[in-house]
Amino acid sequence: MKAVVVTEPGQTRSVRCTSLPIPKPESGQVLIKVAAAPIHPADLSIIKRIYGDKPQDLPAPGIEGAGTVLSSGGGLLGWLLTGKRVAFRPTKCGSWGEYAVARAKDCIVLQANISLEQGSMLIMNPFTCCMFMDVIKSKGSPAVIQTGAASTCGKMLFRYCKYEKIPIINIVYRPDQTALLRELGAEYVLCSSDSDFGEQLQALAGKLVPAVAFDCVAGPVTGQVLGCLQPGSVLYLYGFLSMRLVEEVQAADLLFSGKRIEGLILRDWIRQQGVMTGMRYAATIQRLFHEVFYSAVNHTFPLDDIQSALESFRTDRSLGKVLLTPS
Ligand SMILES: NC(=O)c1ccc[n+]([C@@H]2O[C@H](COP(=O)([O-])OP(=O)(O)OC[C@H]3O[C@@H](n4cnc5c(N)ncnc54)[C@H](OP(=O)(O)O)[C@@H]3O)[C@@H](O)[C@H]2O)c1
Repeated sequence: MKAVVVTEPGQTRSVRCTSLPIPKPESGQVLIKVAAAPIHPADLSIIKRIYGDKPQDLPAPGIEGAGTVLSSGGGLLGWLLTGKRVAFRPTKCGSWGEYAVARAKDCIVLQANISLEQGSMLIMNPFTCCMFMDVIKSKGSPAVIQTGAASTCGKMLFRYCKYEKIPIINIVYRPDQTALLRELGAEYVLCSSDSDFGEQLQALAGKLVPAVAFDCVAGPVTGQVLGCLQPGSVLYLYGFLSMRLVEEVQAADLLFSGKRIEGLILRDWIRQQGVMTGMRYAATIQRLFHEVFYSAVNHTFPLDDIQSALESFRTDRSLGKVLLTPS
């Protein structure tokens, strides 16, 4: 089968499409004919070997996808899934190939009104937004701040907050992204490159009193956002799109105001919360898919064109995802 491999660990330019044997599912796993798989920021971190704390354990790129289950390696669930269209999280073989293997319990059967293209992005960002909503509700926060608001995940969280009638302050990093968010109907959009960004943020936060923030950017914006949250609030760091350190954190915010910065990873959250939470999220996402949890697609590429796909991924990601379409 055709599959994407990284021939020199850590080197994006060494990523290429090659021929590999079709993987064999073990007991509890299924073999999937992959229809579509997105390129996510985490895939680039996996290729660059900067994802997670044990780079030697990193899987092949392609952290999710969608396709049709061809066969089961054994077990009732796998047998039940055979022939079904599913969204899946693959095992270590990754989803950037004509075929992939996933644990049967890591597959979600797609409703008829969700395409395989859209289904290929149904897990990572939608589940993350469901996790965020659980956090917002458990903290009883009257409002929310998010950075990276023009990302796929950011736009989804904006739509979910709108659906739940929770005010959200959306922070973007370029002026053109402000217009993008406004076109989607966002009321509160701030651009971190504006000279008076700090004052605007303080004023809005003073009015809406958010007690949680979700930051996927890092760098100075992390400290600026933490600074305007209520005492006792939590800023959840869930990405580092700027590739910078966490900056501008005031010691007083941590020492005297009881504010905290915590890392938040979907994989660990689902592990802690258990299988019922995952099932609840999957049901919510499919129910609200066309209103909240869809993702825009900017470009699609065949596997052979992986270098063009990665090039396309480097620019204009606010316009939508880059998808690989193996078949
Ligand atoms: N912790 C978890 O479990 C978890 C789960 C899901 C997602 N995430 C994280 O969530 C973030 C968003 O993921 P996604 O799939 O939604 O991303 P995406 O659709 O690929 O979008 C990335 C966005 O980031 C913008 N961007 C690029 N560099 C930036 C910078 N220096 N400062 C601010 N924004 C910048 C891009 O803008 P332009 O390209 O237009 O310049 C684009 O709007 C990523 O960091 C991802 O790793 C984490």
